[in-house]
Amino acid sequence: MDKDSNSIRRQDCQTLQTEYLAGRKLILVSNRGPVAFAYDENGERTVQRGGGGLVTALTGLAQHVDATWIAAADTQADKDFKEGDVPLDGDGKIRVKFIDPDPTEYEGYYNNISNPLLWFLQHNMWDGVRTPTVNRDTWNAWNDGYVKVNEQFAEAIAEEVKASDKPCLVMMQDYHLYLAPQFLRRKLRKHKNKNMKLMHFIHIPWPGPEGWAMLPRDMRQAILDGLCSVDLLGFQTKDDALNFIRTCESHMPRVSVNFKHGRIWVHNHSTHVRDFPISIDVDALRSLAGSDEVSHYREDIQGLTKDRKLIVRIDRTEPSKNIVRGFEAFGEMLELHPEHRGTVKFLGLFVPSRLGVDEYQNYLDEIMASAGRVNAQYGSSDWEPIRILVGQDYPRAIAALQLYDVLLVNAIADGMNLVAKEGPIVNKHDGVVVLSERTGARQQLESGAIVISPYDIYATAEALNNALHMPKKERAERANRLRWSIEREDIAEWLCLQLETLKELRL
Ligand code: G6P
Repeated sequence: MDKDSNSIRRQDCQTLQTEYLAGRKLILVSNRGPVAFAYDENGERTVQRGGGGLVTALTGLAQHVDATWIAAADTQADKDFKEGDVPLDGDGKIRVKFIDPDPTEYEGYYNNISNPLLWFLQHNMWDGVRTPTVNRDTWNAWNDGYVKVNEQFAEAIAEEVKASDKPCLVMMQDYHLYLAPQFLRRKLRKHKNKNMKLMHFIHIPWPGPEGWAMLPRDMRQAILDGLCSVDLLGFQTKDDALNFIRTCESHMPRVSVNFKHGRIWVHNHSTHVRDFPISIDVDALRSLAGSDEVSHYREDIQGLTKDRKLIVRIDRTEPSKNIVRGFEAFGEMLELHPEHRGTVKFLGLFVPSRLGVDEYQNYLDEIMASAGRVNAQYGSSDWEPIRILVGQDYPRAIAALQLYDVLLVNAIADGMNLVAKEGPIVNKHDGVVVLSERTGARQQLESGAIVISPYDIYATAEALNNALHMPKKERAERANRLRWSIEREDIAEWLCLQLETLKELRL
C-alpha cells in the first residue's frame, strides 16, 4: 500500500468507527487498566497512562463514544478512585471502573492461575515430566481466585449493560478473563432484550488440543465454555485461531465446528473465530523517537558502545523470552567467529515482571549469571561484551532501538512481540532483526527478518554472525520490507479489522 492508499484506508476506518459505534455503548475490559493511580509524597493522587499500543488504540476508540473501561485495581489509589471519568490526551475522556477483589482472591487469580498456570501452558513452557503440578493449592486458587475474580468482572460488566439504554459492545482482553463471558451471559439471562455483542481478544499463543490436555478437564471445560459464549473471538495468528477450533473439536462434547468459516456452535450459540494481528501505533512511536528525551538517551548509549556494533534486546524479565539462550548464543558466536571480539556490544534492557510468581523470581538472577559467564570468558579490561540495564524506561528503550545493528527476539513462544515491530520503525542503521519462528510477529515479518528456532543456540549464533556481516544493500532491502509491512498493518488496522468483521457478520 502506498502513502495515498494508506491514508484512504485510515479515513475509511475512521468512518467505520464512527458509524459502527454511533448509538452503542462500548465496554472495554482487561486485567490491567488504561491508567494507574498513585499517591505522591504529598498524598496527592497522580495518574499515569498505561503504555503500549493497546491502550492507545482502545482509548482512541473510546474517546468519542460512550465508553467505560473496567479493570482490576492495582494500587490503593486505584481502589480509592473506584470509578469515574479520566481525561485523555486531546479533548476526550474515558470512564474507568475498577473492580476490587480481596488480596487472597487476586493472588490466586493472578499469581497462581493466570501467571503461571495459563501463561506457561500457552507459551509451551511445561515439560510434562516435572511441571505442571496441579495440587490442592492450585484448585483453591482456581475456585477461590480465578473463578471469583472472573465473577466480579462479569458482575461489573453486567451492571454497565443493564444501566445502558443503548446496545452494548463488550470487548474483553486476554487470558485473565476466560470465564467472564459465560458468567456475564448468565447474569444477563433475564435481560434477553438487552442487545449486547461480546468480543474477546487473546493476546497470547493458543496451543493445540495436546497442549490443553495438560490442564485438568474441569478447568479446560470451563475455559472453553467461557470462550464459546462470545460472539467474536480474536487471536493474533491464523495458527492460534485454528488451534482454538481444534481444541474445541477435541475437548468439547456436543460441539460442531467449521474450520473454513471459522465457526463453532455449542449450547445453541455460535462463535466466530478470526485472527487480528496486533501492532503498534506507528505515528505515536515516531513522534516519541524524535523527542529530546530519547535523543539524550541515544547519546548515553553511544557513549557506552564507543563506535562498536550493537546487538540489542528488550524484554520483560520473562522466562518465555528465552533471554538466557540468547546470551549463550552470543557467547557461541564469539567462540565461533572471534573477529567479533572487542568489536560488538550486546545491550539487554530488561523490565522486572510478575515478581510475585516463583518462576519469575529467580529469572533475573539467571539472566545476570549467564551474561556474567560470557563477560568473564570473552571480556577484557577495555571491552565488556554484554551490558544489562534493568528498569522500566520506555524512552531509553526507543533510543536503543534506534541504534541497533542487530535486534534479537528469540522468544520460546510469543503471541506477537511488539518490540520486533517497534525496532524497524525507529531504527536508524538499517539494522537486522533476528526473529524467533515462534512469535506471532513472524507471520508479517519473515520476509525481512532472519528467522531462527528459539531452541537452536548454534543457529542463533550463526544468525547473529550473518546479521553482523550482512552487506549494506541487503540490510537496507530487508529493513525496507520490515518497515513497509509494519506501516501497512499498524494498530489502527488491528482495530479496523475487528470492527469490519463485526459489521460484516452483522453483530
Ligand atoms: C502480556 C499480556 C498482557 C499483560 C502484559 C504485561 O503482554 O498479554 O495481558 O498485561 O503481558 O503483564 P502484566 O502481568 O504485567 O500485566
